[in-house]
Amino acid sequence: MKLISIIFFVATILIASNECDGLEHGSNYQIFPLRMKSGLGGHYIPDVSCQSWRLGVEAHNVINWKTVPQECETYIGNYMVGDQYRSDSKTVNREGYLYARTLNITNYDIWVFDVDETTLSNLPYYAQHGFGVEPYNETAFNAWVESGVAPPLPETLKLYNKLVSLGVKIVFITGRPQKQRDITAYNLKQAGYYKWEKLITKDTSIYGGKTAVTYKSSERKKLEEEGYRIIGNSGDQWSDILGTNTGLRTYKLPDPVYYIS
Ligand SMILES: *[C@@H]1O[C@H](CO)[C@@H](O)[C@H](O)[C@H]1NC(C)=O
Ligand SMILES: *[C@@H]1O[C@H](CO)[C@@H](O)[C@H](O)[C@H]1NC(C)=O
Ligand SMILES: [Mg+2]
Repeated sequence: MKLISIIFFVATILIASNECDGLEHGSNYQIFPLRMKSGLGGHYIPDVSCQSWRLGVEAHNVINWKTVPQECETYIGNYMVGDQYRSDSKTVNREGYLYARTLNITNYDIWVFDVDETTLSNLPYYAQHGFGVEPYNETAFNAWVESGVAPPLPETLKLYNKLVSLGVKIVFITGRPQKQRDITAYNLKQAGYYKWEKLITKDTSIYGGKTAVTYKSSERKKLEEEGYRIIGNSGDQWSDILGTNTGLRTYKLPDPVYYIS
């Protein structure tokens, strides 16, 4: 009798665990077969493969790429205009706030933000240009920047507002050249970023031909030499957060559309 009830008990557990198909996590996923693939088992599945490519990009395993793979245009387009991009952006920015609020903020505390795809979104431009599938066109992109109508990334704007109310000063460091400084300042204000400590644009006479890592590290070093403490550093490119003087914490926002070294 005892043995039978134990067997019954174990069988119930096995059945119950078999039925754990993920519904309790709010999604009806299937456990992908964890078996070695060979022959047709290893075939290319567009959306799944493009999702892996995007993960590779965000983790900085896929580097120095020039354009989004042609076969991923629809996937990346759907990602960018859909809920996932917004949600990923929210997760990153939220972590920034949760960290900032644990600190005792002083007058010298700053948060460094990149501009493109970090505070301002060029999604309206990229939606017209294949979501990163088309090669970079400097003329067309500069014309878009000069229009000064880039919308804010809403989740970053939320973080910005919270940081300002915590007393954190804001510094923008952008790869945009000095000749785009005025239009960038105008665009930032229009988008709701109404004040800042500094807006640093790229001096091409010093940094022409240098990487973003070199340029941004060097400008952050200057800030620290001036006595500022960089408590957080947000960017959509790894080159925004790699190098030296990176700040107490870094925040990598999603961007599967272009790569800047
Ligand atoms: C912040 O300041 C308070 C009061 O001076 C102190 O008790 C606390 O440890 C400080 N927290 C940090 C993270 O420095
Ligand atoms: C780049 O954009 C400009 C302005 O829209 C256009 O005239 C030009 O043909 C484009 N160049 C390429 C290579 O597509
Ligand atoms: Mg950027």
